[in-house]
Amino acid sequence: MTELALAPRACVIGWPVRHSRSPMIHGFWLREHELAGAYERAEVPPEQFADFVASMPGNGFVGGNVTVPHKEAAFRACAIRTPTAELLGAVNTLWIERGQLCGDNTDAAGFLGALDADAPGWDGRLKTAVVLGAGGAARAILYGLKTRGVETIRLANRSRARAEELAAHFGDIVEVVGWDRRGDALSDADILVNTTSLGMKGQPPLDIDLSRLPDHAVVDDIVYVPLDTDLLIRARARGLRVVGGLGMLLHQAAPGFERWFGVRPRVSPALRAFVENDVRSAG
Ligand code: ATR
Repeated sequence: MTELALAPRACVIGWPVRHSRSPMIHGFWLREHELAGAYERAEVPPEQFADFVASMPGNGFVGGNVTVPHKEAAFRACAIRTPTAELLGAVNTLWIERGQLCGDNTDAAGFLGALDADAPGWDGRLKTAVVLGAGGAARAILYGLKTRGVETIRLANRSRARAEELAAHFGDIVEVVGWDRRGDALSDADILVNTTSLGMKGQPPLDIDLSRLPDHAVVDDIVYVPLDTDLLIRARARGLRVVGGLGMLLHQAAPGFERWFGVRPRVSPALRAFVENDVRSAG
């Protein structure tokens, strides 16, 4: 057998998946650590997902990432899940242990890793957070904020019912506020997080008046195309500390790489520059 045939093989499973930057990130780390291994794209339609993951061990895969729309299906497919994945009801990182499919969710760790790196000390006096949006990303972020001891999370979503439903998983610390009151919710906030798709390339900007935010507040936008959203530009102009979405993408990738290839990779300035360059050139 050739060395390549023995090399660990991982992939990102999505539908579609051509825009995923995970191959770029893992490819960078494989080269940086001079590891024999491969990280591929797997475009798998929903009806084929269960069969695809069941055949991964036989096809030489050591694991993979899971992206839209498969995170809940991945959760269901796993024989073993981490406590975080159990809490979030979604899996974004798969690996195989003794022939069994195992799953974790590293979105919360990615969110926190980016904040720790880009806004050190951000949770030093974390009392109140405002989170916009109520999708899967919001759920991971609420969980992440809770693990850092936040006292109150004000949650605003266009569809209030979806916010109420999400809040019910987190108990009293989450207070749902109307979408039209999102600007008012900012007074006393230590952090504002945008988890909606507003501000993303091709979407309208997030319309929110930042004037009520205290001067020490951090503004975190999980959108990373463009790298500098209108929200981040306005927050920076107000003198606030900002964290962009690329950091979350890079930090959520690290635990999977470590499981598959045995080396804990670093989110270095060189990796960041490499991926930023690609996001910029994709325009
Ligand atoms: P993810 O799982 O990545 O969080 P999602 O489930 O598609 O993605 O959620 C997208 C979020 O962006 C939702 O909170 C959505 O609000 P609704 O629940 O009301 O759909 C929000 N969103 C998308 N477009 C929006 C818009 N034009 N105005 C306000 N919120 C919007």
